[in-house]
Formats: sequence, C-alpha cells, structure tokens
Amino acid sequence: MNILVTGGAGYIGSHTVRALLQAGFTPIILDNFSRGHHGSIPEGVKTIEMDIADPQVVNVLKDNDIKGIMHFAAHSQVGESMQNPAIYYENNVVGSYHLIESARKAGVNHFVFSSTAAVYGEPKVIPIQENAELSPTNVYGRTKLMIEDMLKDYSSIYGSTYVALRYFNAAGADASGTIGEDHSPETHLIPLVLDAALGKRPHITVFGTDYDTLDGTCIRDYIHVSDLATAHVLAMRYLLDGGASRSFNLGSGNGFSVKAIIETAREVTGVDIPVVYGERRAGDPSTLIASSEAIKSILGWNPEHSELHQIIGDAWHWHQQHPNGFDDK
Ligand code: UFG
Repeated sequence: MNILVTGGAGYIGSHTVRALLQAGFTPIILDNFSRGHHGSIPEGVKTIEMDIADPQVVNVLKDNDIKGIMHFAAHSQVGESMQNPAIYYENNVVGSYHLIESARKAGVNHFVFSSTAAVYGEPKVIPIQENAELSPTNVYGRTKLMIEDMLKDYSSIYGSTYVALRYFNAAGADASGTIGEDHSPETHLIPLVLDAALGKRPHITVFGTDYDTLDGTCIRDYIHVSDLATAHVLAMRYLLDGGASRSFNLGSGNGFSVKAIIETAREVTGVDIPVVYGERRAGDPSTLIASSEAIKSILGWNPEHSELHQIIGDAWHWHQQHPNGFDDK
C-alpha cells in the first residue's frame, strides 16, 4: 500500500520511511530538499522533489495510488519562528493548506500529522494530557496548531480522518547509525552536547540554572526517534482501519534535566564534556513531560528504545560515524 511521506528526507520522516518499509508499506517521499538530505533516503524508495504547495501534488497522489499521507514537511525551529514568522506561516500553514486541498481533490482521506508539544505552551499540569489547554507561546507551535485545526475542520466537513502526533523532545538515531539528526544550524540539546564531546564545539552552554526544578535546569521528555516512527505506522493503520480523528501525545513519560542529559552523555561517550552555565533562553518552559497513556491504550504503542542511555548511545553512534552529518549541502 502506497503512503506519501512529505518531508521524508528529514530527521523524523527518514526514520519513519524505514518503519513503513519494515511494516510492509510502500513509502513514496515528497520533499523539496530545502532542509532534507538526499543521503537519508534508502535505496529504491521513490522520491519526488516537489513542494507541498505545488498544484501538481494532486497528480502525484492520483498517479501513485496514494492511500494515506504522513505529513512531516515543515520548518521546525522555535527560535527561527520568532525571528522570521513569515516563512512559518507560508511554509507550514499555507503549504499544509495546499497539501490538504490536494488530498481532498485526489480523494486521499487519511493524514498522520507531525505536531508538537509546543501546541500546549506553558503547561499548568504535569504530565500533560491531550485535553490540556492549547496555548502555544511561539509562532512554530501556533502554526502546528493551525494545521491541526484545518485537519479537524476538513475531517468534520468532508469526512477525511487524521491523527495528529504531538511529539515531545525527539532524539536519538536509527540503531544502524546510517541516519540521524542533521539540522543546520543545530539548536537541539543532545546533538549539541555530542558535538562538544567530539570537539566540534568548545563546550555546551546550559541555558539557565535558576528554574524551579531539582537541579535548577529545564526538564524535558526525550523520546527516541525510532519510537516516534513506530507510532506513525500504528496511527496510519488505525486510520486505514476506520479509526476516528484525534490527537496523541508522544513522549516517554520521563523527565530529564539539562544537567542529567550532560551527565549521561559523559557516561556514554567517556568524554568529560566542557560545560558553561549561561542565561535562560527566551520562551523555554521549565518542565515538559508527556502523558502518553492514550496512544498506549488505544494504539498499543510502547516506546521500546527511549531509555536515556539508549537514546544518547544511538545518537552518539550516528555522530561519531557522521561528524559532518550527511555532508550533502
Ligand atoms: N538547551 C541548553 N543548551 C543548548 C540547547 C538547549 O541548555 O545549547 C536546553 C534548553 O534550554 C531546553 C533543553 O535544553 O531546556 C532542550 O532544548 P531543545 O532545544 O533540545 O528542545 P526544546 O525543548 O526547546 O524544543 C522541543 C522541540 C521543539 C518543540 C519544543 C516544544 O525540539 O520542536 O520542544 O516546547 F517545539
């Protein structure tokens, strides 16, 4: 069965392409390669270089007998979204609108959408459940929420169905070490810590030590990218089997502080990673931990790879083998 994977050459998309192959689906990648990597695509996977807003997407969907869409293609950096909102509204919101319309015209009725914990903003209750208040504090989170709303409206008006997967902190890499995280510029904690371990950066800066947490640094819920990938396959099966539209959180349910991440990375790498303590980064909530009970009970999802040493170990494997990422820019 053919599944279109937009942004299939990106970090989470490329891991999900492998999960689809393993589950017996035929992924077809649609990517404009503005941020994706040719080197992340497995041999033999059909790849179409096209923007999600291109009117030709209707023909791609029809010509390839697409049964469902996994929609990853998006800009995804919180900081960038606050400096350059236009590209987030254009690429994420307008681009997704065109994609959703193309799907409607082509009669493709199922969407698995890559959403984010950023739709919640600063949470009032931890762990965060799906029915918590949706109050994003940055443009990136707002664009993802707008897309969830569009999918919801299309679902109730046209009868199409979707699952929005709200990721917490995606991290790690495929156990093979052949694909992994390669953003430019990199802003995420674990790859930056590992770059410091490799000597590519002089140190890691901890953004704030005065949060209301046990050690004063921010707490996040890190989830292995391979566990995210598995959830997408389960969500697509659920929709194909007639499941109703809804959103699910995706996290491990465990919170780790920035200091704990650095300590674990020291253990995994054997490198005494240099640390500098800096100011808070604007807009960072103190603590984000997911309740993922809904997806566990409804889809039977189980995060098998998300023990912290495994997340950092797999990321380290990738970084050691590919210190310059895919090296294709
Ligand atoms: N951090 C540092 N130093 C760094 C980089 C990050 O101390 O050099 C800290 C941050 O302050 C934060 C934690 O490490 O407390 C994790 O930061 P990341 O940038 O790795 O991830 P975020 O939690 O900021 O972002 C994640 C996702 C976003 C999503 C957001 C929701 O990557 O896509 O959660 O709040 F929008």
